[in-house]
Amino acid sequence: MKKIKKYLKKHLTKDRYHHTLGVAYTAIAMAMRYNPDPSNSDFIKRAEIAGLLHDCAKCMDNDKKLHICEKNNIAHSSFEASHPYLLHGKVGAYIAKKKFDIHDEEILQAITWHTTGRPNMSLLEKIIFIADYIEPSRNPIPELDEIRQLAFIDIDRAMEKILCNTLKFLEEKGNPMDKMTQTTYDSYVRPTYKGGNFA
Ligand SMILES: [Fe+2]
Ligand SMILES: [Fe+2]
Repeated sequence: MKKIKKYLKKHLTKDRYHHTLGVAYTAIAMAMRYNPDPSNSDFIKRAEIAGLLHDCAKCMDNDKKLHICEKNNIAHSSFEASHPYLLHGKVGAYIAKKKFDIHDEEILQAITWHTTGRPNMSLLEKIIFIADYIEPSRNPIPELDEIRQLAFIDIDRAMEKILCNTLKFLEEKGNPMDKMTQTTYDSYVRPTYKGGNFA
């Protein structure tokens, strides 16, 4: 853990490091809440590691991210190639493996998919995705307090709400959207969703 934090302090901006600690602590709290085996704290440790490393490649040059993907045959879409900031999850998982010898597939997948999510996410993947959105230093966004509560009550409903709000936000801002975000949302949507609002 010391080695990871030292690396993060060196490679992330101050604000990103602060966000990272917030994600790790939130992931720990959520792992305590949802631990599938409360007699064992291993799940909580793994959530902390994934939380700490989820943005480890965030501050890397975009050219370098793309170069790492191409050199190591890390599969990526043409959309990601033209918007390489989206690659920080995939490159982050690569760094976790190569630099910190992490071979726990669930941790690596949680880092890989923390930005867009994906259908059929594991519990750990959902925790990192949600912790990234609700950590304490997040700038205020619509319904944040409600989602923070929901995260500890109904994890799938929190996923659905975050994905819905993210899509709305990207649409309103006219920001480019990775279609995996929509695919993930479609896999979580419930019949009560009607044209952008929850019934
Ligand atoms: Fe990120
Ligand atoms: Fe993040």
